[in-house]
Amino acid sequence: MFASEQKVHFDVDRIRKDFPILSRRIGDNPLVYLDNAASSQMPTVVMDAFGEYHRNYHSNVHRGVHTLSQEATDAFEKVRQKVQKFIGAKEEREIIYTSGATDSINLIAQSYGKTFLKEGDEILISNMEHHANIVPWDILSKQLNLNILVIPITDEGELDLNAYKNLLSERTKIVAVNHVSNALGTINPVKEITQLAHEAGAVTVIDGAQSVPHMNVNVSDIDCDFYVFSAHKMLGPTGTGILFGKAEHLEEMPPYRGGGDMILSVSFETGITYNDLPYKFEAGTPGIAQVIMLGKAIEYLDAVGRDNILAYENELLSYATQRVAEIEGLKIIGTASNKASVLSFILEGIHPHDIGTILDFHGVAVRSGHHCAQPVMERFNVPATTRASFAFYNTKSEIDTLINALHEVKEVLG
Ligand code: ALA
Repeated sequence: MFASEQKVHFDVDRIRKDFPILSRRIGDNPLVYLDNAASSQMPTVVMDAFGEYHRNYHSNVHRGVHTLSQEATDAFEKVRQKVQKFIGAKEEREIIYTSGATDSINLIAQSYGKTFLKEGDEILISNMEHHANIVPWDILSKQLNLNILVIPITDEGELDLNAYKNLLSERTKIVAVNHVSNALGTINPVKEITQLAHEAGAVTVIDGAQSVPHMNVNVSDIDCDFYVFSAHKMLGPTGTGILFGKAEHLEEMPPYRGGGDMILSVSFETGITYNDLPYKFEAGTPGIAQVIMLGKAIEYLDAVGRDNILAYENELLSYATQRVAEIEGLKIIGTASNKASVLSFILEGIHPHDIGTILDFHGVAVRSGHHCAQPVMERFNVPATTRASFAFYNTKSEIDTLINALHEVKEVLG
């Protein structure tokens, strides 16, 4: 594992050795994995945590006095402290384990939203949201007769802050936006967005799925009410994620799902009393090994240092942005001044799926499609884009491979 004392020097060759999948081949070519916004790859130390848990202390959590259960519970709960520190939350009980960012947003909508919103209230979302930050609000709005208003985005793919200010009113109850757009790479000014929402009396829900792997995040500084993310985009496993909520909200919210572990007592005579935070929201046996793996992923990211990651990925993004300019007919979708490591583009006259298929012949993995953000495609009037998304284990030479492969796409299909 990348030791913390090595933090000062960003040694990508050394880092790549920690990720076994990066040495595999696709046909005759080395894998060039540029689909990190969909799911990142995993270092050995994270994978090993799965085996270690199952070999040595697999057992249920919070449910036994025996050694295995205590060890599993300890390891599982220690991750909560790590997550708290990782995002700068004030209290450990503000960290809820969920199955991912999507699950977290559904929880907020169905628990906070259903309890505190009423007919005619408004929810503001942006034109650059992932479907996970649209559909749960649409479901809620149909249940309660709410109105969803959409904050427009500029031609560069930035949030139109003036329009946002004009949309805010005493009817606004929730503002739900992403920190980083998965389709455009735009980094949104979530602190300012939150401050304005609070002045209007609304709470903010920040989708951090694309931000936490790439930059330092401090929810106390942002002052957001809720922040969500998924483990599988930050070197961890699928099916696991986090909901951060301010304790003052979580305390007042009813449970989202019922079951074991989220109760203090169940009686047919005296009724049901719910458990304290955070357990009130964690019904049923969780992904114990997956949470422990998430803890290892956090240790790994902390050891590399997210400041280092941001600086290095910025270099990769600038290099890729410069190099794609040499490809005639290529247009970047999303040119915000503050961007994370996402490069979405279209190539005149060539469908993104065909681009993705030819790139795959060269071992280059990108995502082609609407990126679960169809309103972004509508806004830019394109059916789909090709998206290369970088992680700190990518290299400039991999970007060269992408560029060479794109030249071939032009030759074959252009
Ligand atoms: N949200 C993921 C992406 O952007 C799946 O690809």
